[in-house]
Amino acid sequence: MSFYRDYNDKLSLENWNARRRSSYETIRVTPLSPALGAEVDGVDLRTALHPQQVAEIQRARAENLVLVFRNQPVSTEQHKRFGQLFGRLHCHVSAGKRAPGGDPEVLAWKTTQASRFTAGEAWHSDVSCDPEPITTSILHLTRLPEIGGGDTAFANMYLAYESLSDSFKQFIEGLTAVHSGEEGWTNGYGDEPAPGASFTATEHPVVARHPVTGRKFLFVNRAFTSHIPQLTRAESQAVLEVLYRHVETNLGFQTRIHWTPDTLVLWDNWATQHQAIWDYYPYERWGERISAVSGERPQK
Ligand code: SIN
Repeated sequence: MSFYRDYNDKLSLENWNARRRSSYETIRVTPLSPALGAEVDGVDLRTALHPQQVAEIQRARAENLVLVFRNQPVSTEQHKRFGQLFGRLHCHVSAGKRAPGGDPEVLAWKTTQASRFTAGEAWHSDVSCDPEPITTSILHLTRLPEIGGGDTAFANMYLAYESLSDSFKQFIEGLTAVHSGEEGWTNGYGDEPAPGASFTATEHPVVARHPVTGRKFLFVNRAFTSHIPQLTRAESQAVLEVLYRHVETNLGFQTRIHWTPDTLVLWDNWATQHQAIWDYYPYERWGERISAVSGERPQK
């Protein structure tokens, strides 16, 4: 694939993939594609995990970016307890309206025959408009469409950055981009903030360095990024479109997760983007997401 051929840091990518295949002692990790994603076996997420299992899951998250845990019939409380291993639980602005019992730490939704949209239909990273964006999200689908479908597609933002030409990398390195909740929710879904509240908007670097791995990743997404303030409006739109199409059209950066009953999918929300695929109309798909923040901001 051309992005491997042109990739300056080929050696480090090879080392990275070798690490993904190296062994774990307390869990089994099976990579799903060269780009990202792995199935994790050998844990029961209904129980408190051994510290070594927690450390190995955190390592597997850093190395694979998306982790799939099958056959985990967790309650909402167990799902939250698992989320707490990755930071402080995030309260979504819209969560209280939809969550069971109005719990703001649980983002729940139901896509039904009556839905006008489904959550996460455009490529995005979750709530990137926050000053300290979500670092880890964990999704549990509580109802799957009987017809099948409803996969989630993920893309690797390290590869998206690394496979750009050197000239383009140099051009975008110093830029920032504004991410806004209004762009994501009002323009995307027609959603308005609660009376007296407002959606967040934050300027983040276009290219940031991951605090865990030290690798650079591309941090703009079609759902939340409104513009690059250092450019004219026309330039900003054109540059963002190049980057979005780069992410969306390179299948080599991507993997697609197929859901089965009682699956939990965890992702690194900075180094990946994802899109929910709504191909099951008129069937229903319900989800509950728990997200965690580390309290860090993306840095150059
Ligand atoms: C999301 O968190 O954006 C939703 C993903 C999905 O429903 O597959």
